[in-house]
Amino acid sequence: MAPLYILPLLLHLICPITTVSSVGINYGTLGNNLPSPKTVAQLLQSTLIDKVKIYDSNPQILQAFSNTGIDLIVAVENNHVANISSTKSAAQDWFSARIAPFIPATSIVAIAVGNEYLATDDDSLDPNNLIQAMQNLHEVLLSRGLDRKIKITTPHSMAVLATSFPPSTSTFATTLMPTMTSIVTFLADTGSPFMVNAYPYFAYRDNPTTVPLEYALLGNSTGVHDPSGYVYTNMLDAQIDAIRSAIASLGFGNRSIHITVSESGWPSKGEPDETAASPDNAKTYNTRLITKAQSNKGTPMKPNDKIDIFVFALFNENKKEGGASERNFGLFNGDGSKVYDVDLSCEFCSGTKMEFGFGPGSKMVQRGPSVWCVAKPHADERVVQGVLDFCCGAGGVDCREVYENGGCFMPNKVHAHASYAMNAYYQMHGRNYWNCDFKGSGLVTFSDPSYGTCRYSQQ
Ligand SMILES: *[C@@H]1O[C@H](CO)[C@@H](O)[C@H](O)[C@H]1NC(C)=O
Ligand SMILES: *[C@@H]1O[C@H](CO)[C@@H](O)[C@H](O)[C@H]1NC(C)=O
Ligand SMILES: *[C@@H]1O[C@H](CO)[C@@H](O)[C@H](O)[C@H]1NC(C)=O
Repeated sequence: MAPLYILPLLLHLICPITTVSSVGINYGTLGNNLPSPKTVAQLLQSTLIDKVKIYDSNPQILQAFSNTGIDLIVAVENNHVANISSTKSAAQDWFSARIAPFIPATSIVAIAVGNEYLATDDDSLDPNNLIQAMQNLHEVLLSRGLDRKIKITTPHSMAVLATSFPPSTSTFATTLMPTMTSIVTFLADTGSPFMVNAYPYFAYRDNPTTVPLEYALLGNSTGVHDPSGYVYTNMLDAQIDAIRSAIASLGFGNRSIHITVSESGWPSKGEPDETAASPDNAKTYNTRLITKAQSNKGTPMKPNDKIDIFVFALFNENKKEGGASERNFGLFNGDGSKVYDVDLSCEFCSGTKMEFGFGPGSKMVQRGPSVWCVAKPHADERVVQGVLDFCCGAGGVDCREVYENGGCFMPNKVHAHASYAMNAYYQMHGRNYWNCDFKGSGLVTFSDPSYGTCRYSQQ
C-alpha cells in the first residue's frame, strides 16, 4: 500500500490545477438567543458552507469546529490590536493562549487582525499599531512553521477609498496611503488576501434615485461603463475593482494580490425609510451572492481571478447596535428558523440532501459519536476523480460496491463514488482527520451518508 504522503504528489501529477469553489459565512454572536457553537458547527457541516469567519477567538467556537472539515477565520478584536502590536512576546502569548490549543484539529486558515480598523470612529485606535500587530503575529507563525497554513490579514471597509467610482480611477484616501502601502506590501510578501467588506445595499440605500436596484442586487443590469472600457452589470464587481485599482495605484500592479470579500449581504428588515430592506430583496441578493461565490468567475478587470466571498451573516443578531437593518442581515433567526428561503443544501455532504435548520418546521438531525468521510460537494471533479482512483488502487479500498451492479453504483457520479471510497479509506486508517483530507477535497461528517442499498462502513 502506498504511504499516505505520496497522495498529494500523485494528485499533483494527475491534476495540477485545484479549484474548489466554496462559500464562506460570517458567524457573529451579538445575540442573546443564538444556538450553541456545537449546534452551529454540526449543522453547518450539512450545508455547502465550508468557511466560517468569526469576530473573536471564542474558545467554544474554536473547539466546536474541530474535525468538521470547515475552515475557520478567527479575529483579533480592534481593542486588542494595540496589545499584540506592543511586543513580539505579546503576540506569542495571544497565539499560545487563543489559537495553539485548537490546532490542528480546528482548521484555522486565517487571522483577521481588527475589523474595519482604519475606518472606525474610535480615536484610541492608532493606525500604526495595525501593521505592527500583523507583523508580530506573522513572526509567531513563522517561528512555528504555520505561515503557509494560516494567513494574517485585516478586513477593510470601503471607506478606505477616496472615491470608488469609476472603478479604474479609485485610490485609497490620501491620509491612509502610507498605512495602506505597508499593509499591501505585507499581504503581497506573505501571500495573504486583501479583505474588503462590500455592501451595495448601503450605497443603494443612500442614493436610491441614482443607483438602479438591479445593479445593487447583483442583477444583470444595463452596463455601467468605466472610462477604461470595463462594463459593470452589478455594483459588487465595481466595488471589488475599485479596490483593485487602489491597490494597483500603490505600485503593486505586477504583484498578485488576491481580493476576498470578507463581508457582503442584504438586510431583510430595516428602519421605516429603508424600503429596500425586505425579505425578497435579501433573498435575491444572497442567492446571487452564493451563486457568485461558487463560480470561478472574477470581475471585469480580472475575469479569471476567483473571488472568495463570505456572506454576512449567518444569524440575525438582536443585540447589535445601530439601525434596525444592522440586526437583520441574518439568513437565520436565533431559533434556527430561516428568515427567508435560501438554498444551502449540499448534495454530497452527507449522501442525502439535507435541510439546514433546527427551528420550527425543520428536521433536527440526530448525530451519534460516529463519523464518516465524504467528498466536499464543490471539490474539483478532477481532484475527486484522482482521489477515487487512488483509493481504489494504491489506497487498497475494496471498491466493488461502486462498480456496476454494486450497491453504491447509483448515483453514477464521481463525487458519490469517491465519497464511498474516501470513507472506506478513512475508516481503514483510523479516522484521523488527516486521513480525510485528500488534498482538501474530503470532509468529515457526523451524519451517516448511507442510503438505500449503499452502506457506508464505519469503525
Ligand atoms: C496584553 O494582554 C495580556 C493578556 O490580556 C496582558 O497580560 C498584558 O499585560 C497585555 N500587555 C500590554 C502591553 O498591554
Ligand atoms: C446578462 O445579460 C447578457 C446580455 O443580455 C447575457 O449575455 C448574459 O447571459 C446575462 N447573464 C446572466 C447571468 O443572466
Ligand atoms: C514588478 O515591478 C517592480 C517595481 O516596478 C520591478 O522591480 C519588478 O522587476 C517587477 N516584476 C516583474 C515580475 O515584472
